[in-house]
Amino acid sequence: MTSKKTAPALRDGCAVRVSVAEVSGHPPKRVLIVYHSQSGHTEQLAEAAARGASCEEGVRVKVLRAGRATVEDLLDCDGLLLGTPENFGYMSGMMKDFFDRTYDAARGRVGNLPYAVFVSAGNDGSGAVREIERIARGYPFKRVAEPVIAVGPVTEASLEASRELGQTLAAGLVFGVF
Ligand SMILES: Cc1cc2nc3c(=O)[nH]c(=O)nc-3n(C[C@H](O)[C@H](O)[C@H](O)COP(=O)(O)O)c2cc1C
Repeated sequence: MTSKKTAPALRDGCAVRVSVAEVSGHPPKRVLIVYHSQSGHTEQLAEAAARGASCEEGVRVKVLRAGRATVEDLLDCDGLLLGTPENFGYMSGMMKDFFDRTYDAARGRVGNLPYAVFVSAGNDGSGAVREIERIARGYPFKRVAEPVIAVGPVTEASLEASRELGQTLAAGLVFGVF
């Protein structure tokens, strides 16, 4: 089978592609995006990150709200993006809940999973990043990109930074640099 399948386009017209690598026998790299969002800012960043990752050939992207993501989802991916608003100097409660629910079962089974973080914050964001990175070391996940911290309302620049983050993770997985 040599035909190249193309899934329906995402919102901005960037297609989710099923790559030549997949149809020639190499499974696609699986990017999981786990995020929480209360008023929609982090969700917009997650969508942008998904678009960026989807633009890379040979990648499958799964986007889940933190409350719905399971340990099986975590064990079934090659790269992970974690997105949260900063709440009270910390990650959102739902992101913490995701860690609480998956940590024991996933610890030692994720093999230095490449990951990166994006945060939407009113005026800071550093606390959320710091605490996610602290927990991530326990699984362990391996940080492969600088975090994106979007302060204030979502802008074209923060969407572009998130899109780039998604594409960077996806490209690194495809080219085996992580
Ligand atoms: C309960 C609550 C606590 C917050 N705490 C912080 C904070 O500690 N630092 C900060 O920079 N922003 C804080 N914010 C602002 C949010 O991080 C910001 O509005 C963010 O864009 C919300 O993202 P969301 O729309 O994805 O929920 C807080 C907002 C709420 C509702």
